[in-house]
Amino acid sequence: MKNQEVFVTPQELARQREFTERIAKLNDEYTARYGRRRSAFVDCYGCQQNEADAECMRGMLREMGYEPAKDEQDADVVLLNTCAVREHAEMRVLGNVGALSHCKKARPDMIIGVGGCMTQQTAMAEKLKKSFPYVDIVFGTHALWRLPELIYQKLTFGRRVFDVEDEDGRIAEGLPVQRKDYIRGWVSVMYGCNNFCSYCIVPYVRGRERSRRPEDILNEVRGLIEKGCREINLLGQNVNSYGHGTDYAMDFPDLLRAVAQLPGDFIVRFMTSHPKDATRKLIDTMADCEKIAPQLHLPVQSGSDRILKEMNRRYTAAQYLELIDYARARIPNIAFTSDIIVGFPGETLEDFEQTLALVERVRYHALFTFLYSPRGGTPAASMPDDTPHEEKQRRFERLCQVQNAISEQIHAACVGQTCRVLCESKSRFDAFPVAARTDTGRVVYLAADPKEIGTFCRAHIVRASPWALFGEKVED
Ligand code: SAH
Ligand code: SF4
Ligand code: F3S
Repeated sequence: MKNQEVFVTPQELARQREFTERIAKLNDEYTARYGRRRSAFVDCYGCQQNEADAECMRGMLREMGYEPAKDEQDADVVLLNTCAVREHAEMRVLGNVGALSHCKKARPDMIIGVGGCMTQQTAMAEKLKKSFPYVDIVFGTHALWRLPELIYQKLTFGRRVFDVEDEDGRIAEGLPVQRKDYIRGWVSVMYGCNNFCSYCIVPYVRGRERSRRPEDILNEVRGLIEKGCREINLLGQNVNSYGHGTDYAMDFPDLLRAVAQLPGDFIVRFMTSHPKDATRKLIDTMADCEKIAPQLHLPVQSGSDRILKEMNRRYTAAQYLELIDYARARIPNIAFTSDIIVGFPGETLEDFEQTLALVERVRYHALFTFLYSPRGGTPAASMPDDTPHEEKQRRFERLCQVQNAISEQIHAACVGQTCRVLCESKSRFDAFPVAARTDTGRVVYLAADPKEIGTFCRAHIVRASPWALFGEKVED
């Protein structure tokens, strides 16, 4: 598909706006008749990309005249935005869909929709259709922008609606977005994934890679900064493929630099970087631009070259470490984080120990560790796997122990230091009422006035745990 064919056309978007207006009219009539406004709730189960899609769903629902509901129980429309990356995520969704049957019995007019990555799988869409007859709308990731039409069909014809077409997926610009707040902003720069790591379902449910136009991204970021946003997060399954297959004049490091050069007081983060595509140019750009956070999420998945090959990751542990060393040399205070899968089919104790050795060598600030979960239709799901579950669990716990000790040491070394933090939200600790974040991405619970939320300030670190830091606000 040529890049210009990747965009949903203005005519198609205008048609959806018509449906939005018709629904808004129906909802106004409802309010006039019953003296209450209909409400909607969107629940999200996935990654940041899914959360960004959920913000779009909330934006579209707002324009349809629905007010936000505080939970599923009394909402007139409930949408579940699902994730398929591991079985656990899918089980949680199915459990919650099951629980909604009571709400639906009590209020048959309620509309229940299930969207996102799980529904983009044909077998799962069929299961939802058959086993959950009270689910009204099932829509895949590629149908997100058609949500107004789907809700309109349900409202006017009362029939169940299914939109899970197998397509490559396109980019819909200009959809309304309802954000939680304007302190941190999530901006997708590209969608989809072409990498087909052998364990991963994402390329099947998110479609092929496609990149937004640089001017659309920069305009969105400008808008966020004007609204007072202090942290810009550029998102994509593999941000370093940004611009591939297009005639844009920018690759990802160029885009990152252009974002960082916009005027305003903000910090820029990005995720995710596939190690095979993260270049020295990316690191140099991070080193050059003050506004880019000294933080790199670089998922390694395994420390064994044999397993990396089976995973189709297309780099070796040595190549990975070379990039880490380069980044550390250019950005001495850089914080690395990573994803690791334990118990990939055929992983031996020796393979696993190579992962442990890599973790000890890199000394990540934090790790996201996952037990391998077979995903139907991926190559790894049919690879022989003779490691017992208990052994995988033991390895998993060993890895967590090793990482906790490293995180604890890194955090302990911060005690007594003073650093810049962004105050993000209220915390659950009375003595440290503000949840803040260092430039390197570490969470700091801060003794400060919650009025500071939304601003940068200086924190003196007084205490550390493996998961977070505790500090006091100090004057510059
Ligand atoms: N695009 C990103 C993130 C993909 S999903 C990347 O390439 O890193 C987030 C993480 O989930 C992955 O990095 C991987 O560690 C984990 N994951 C993906 N599929 C999985 C599976 N089948 N079982 C266990 N973990 C998985
Ligand atoms: Fe999945 Fe690999 Fe793509 Fe990440 S890069 S989304 S792990 S296929
Ligand atoms: Fe994200 Fe899960 Fe989909 S990790 S892309 S929501 S499968």
